[in-house]
Amino acid sequence: MRLGKKMGVVAAGAALTLSLAACAGEGAGSGNENAPAGDGGDDVKIGVAMPTETSERWIADGNAVKDGLEAAGYAVDLQYAGDDIPTQTQQIDSMITGGADVLIIAAIDGTALSSQLDAAAAANIPVISYDRLIRDNENVNFYVTFDNYQVGVAQATALLNGLGLTDATGEPTGEKGPFNVELFAGSLDDNNAHFFWKGAMDTLKPFLDDGSLKVPSKQTDIEQAAILRWQQETAQKRMEDLLTSTYSDGTKLHGVLSPYDGLSRGIITALQGVGMGPTIEEGLPVVTGQDAEIASVKLIADGVQQSTIFKDTRKLADQAVVAAEAYLEGEKPDANDTSTYENGVKVVPSYLLDVDTVYADNIQELLVDSEYWTQEEIESGQAE
Ligand code: BGC
Repeated sequence: MRLGKKMGVVAAGAALTLSLAACAGEGAGSGNENAPAGDGGDDVKIGVAMPTETSERWIADGNAVKDGLEAAGYAVDLQYAGDDIPTQTQQIDSMITGGADVLIIAAIDGTALSSQLDAAAAANIPVISYDRLIRDNENVNFYVTFDNYQVGVAQATALLNGLGLTDATGEPTGEKGPFNVELFAGSLDDNNAHFFWKGAMDTLKPFLDDGSLKVPSKQTDIEQAAILRWQQETAQKRMEDLLTSTYSDGTKLHGVLSPYDGLSRGIITALQGVGMGPTIEEGLPVVTGQDAEIASVKLIADGVQQSTIFKDTRKLADQAVVAAEAYLEGEKPDANDTSTYENGVKVVPSYLLDVDTVYADNIQELLVDSEYWTQEEIESGQAE
């Protein structure tokens, strides 16, 4: 059973004392692995830092984390930073000085929060890295996320499946193409972008190697494919530039690897802008995605965008709440991965969730039956 608010802090403080005694000599900095000091006040306060409200997934994440924490009886300070790094660092600074007992942070730039993490550790505030790994600092206590490498595998598999090179499970069909594709990656300062890219490129490699898949622009490095801050307009512009530089001679484009629905919509706008499609059936290249954003789910239902990766943010929020509660009760959260997420300084114990690939024919099962979106929202393309 959950301890009462004040009890939780007292117990956590007691556990800290015990754990410090038990861990004496076990290594520098291990003290804050276990529990917050507690401020002795009546309320336990949790700071939740989210990157941006321009993408609806982060709004859903923020709301779900807030609701879960409030239902557990904690006060929540939820802040969005408009994808601006100084805003996010200021927000976290004020959560720390404002007496937060735990921090849950989805970073904009995973390498930009070191002084905040040092300050949190000095104040004995556990830090839970949310969805995106905070890098280059030892004071990240726990990481809740999805299996980011698998997201990349799933995106590439959806692309191969859409082209007919494999089936939906990634089993080669024997089809040899060749098919022309272009590749997009996320923001280089987001650790996830590198995992998505690696999972995707490992999956595409055999087909690139045997020539059944080609990248006519030859832009196959993540630095060339990356889109800073995951901006839709930047992706649209890059796609327009690629169409001009590489496809204006009539070379046919069959597919685009896109790691996020916002980018996918920018890419689709560029493709339709030169008269392709408007649907896949009418010749629009196969475009992948991620996040099951409502505008993209409608495009998938309408046969325009081919696929997206569904990450159930409700489950991720639940895990963040479970991890925060563990710290408040003087325990360590359970990890299901203790080897993958090396942040440049240490391997961060992690809890990874599975993802699903959404196509037009399983929208109902994955998104409507699970009550992630309603049928009406999908028809209108707008969240209610
Ligand atoms: C998240 C993705 C999201 C992207 C852009 C990544 O860190 O894992 O789900 O599409 O950021 O917001």
